[in-house]
Amino acid sequence: MTTTITLGNFKGGVGKTTSACLIAYQLADKGYKTLIADLDPQGNATNMMLKTKANIDDKIAVFEQSLMKSVEEKDLNKSIIDIKDNLDLLASAPDFAMYPRYMESISDYNERVKYLQKLFSGIKKEYDYIILDTPPTVMSLFTDSALYMSDYCLIVMQTHKDSFDGSKAFIDYLQEYVIDTYKAPRLDLIGILPVLMQGNAPVDKYTLKGAIDEFGKENLLDTAVKHMERIKRFPITGITRSTMYDRRVLHVYEEVTDETLKRIKEIEK
Ligand SMILES: Nc1ncnc2c1ncn2[C@@H]1O[C@H](COP(=O)(O)OP(=O)(O)OP(=O)(O)O)[C@@H](O)[C@H]1O
Ligand SMILES: [Mg+2]
Repeated sequence: MTTTITLGNFKGGVGKTTSACLIAYQLADKGYKTLIADLDPQGNATNMMLKTKANIDDKIAVFEQSLMKSVEEKDLNKSIIDIKDNLDLLASAPDFAMYPRYMESISDYNERVKYLQKLFSGIKKEYDYIILDTPPTVMSLFTDSALYMSDYCLIVMQTHKDSFDGSKAFIDYLQEYVIDTYKAPRLDLIGILPVLMQGNAPVDKYTLKGAIDEFGKENLLDTAVKHMERIKRFPITGITRSTMYDRRVLHVYEEVTDETLKRIKEIEK
């Protein structure tokens, strides 16, 4: 059985990609066969993961072909790269921006939304967990398709009043479109992961309280990701574990991962 999880929010720059990469990294460390699938043509997760691989085995990774080409050939295997033990990457590339236009050959939008799931059917069984990283675009085929094929969604929310709205809109969208209109077969909400980007304790406390008032305590993960300067370096250096600062970040995301697994277990009870 494979569990597929999309990390989402309609707002950009809230920590989706960072969280997707670090959760996938932790799942792999826990011994689960994990795929991080980068469905964002910006390729930020691809970039971070390729650098992470370079830290581990000193090899420059090359993928056989771009994700768009693999989509056209209906075989994603040639865009998969082994990153480390238990962790693979489905690498994105800028030409994946063509995906929505390419899919226009299917006239029914609902059928377009379902197509990604079919593409993944050939590789899915290899993994215990598939983590999908999506672009921040509101109402895009990327996000619709990712959510359609997912068992769960984890909303990543920056604890900033402005970004509450992006999360609220996202939750409404899940219900109204993904579940009621596209009839996603399994999708369920794990919860909302608060990410504190401010690095100021009193402000953090205030905004976290605002998030609890807005969404209810039970919908927020108990684990919040604090502002950590070290995280900002991971897109440049890849994920490393050599210093105390690295290990602090990894520890926080181990807690996020444990709580995510715990919540899934509770939902499945
Ligand atoms: N806990 C954190 N502390 C400090 N900086 C962070 C934290 N989490 C993420 N960042 C930084 O914030 C920026 C945005 O993060 P990230 O790319 O993960 O967001 P995103 O939601 O995927 O963005 P996009 O919508 O563009 O895909 C990055 O520079 C990242 O390093
Ligand atoms: Mg991103």
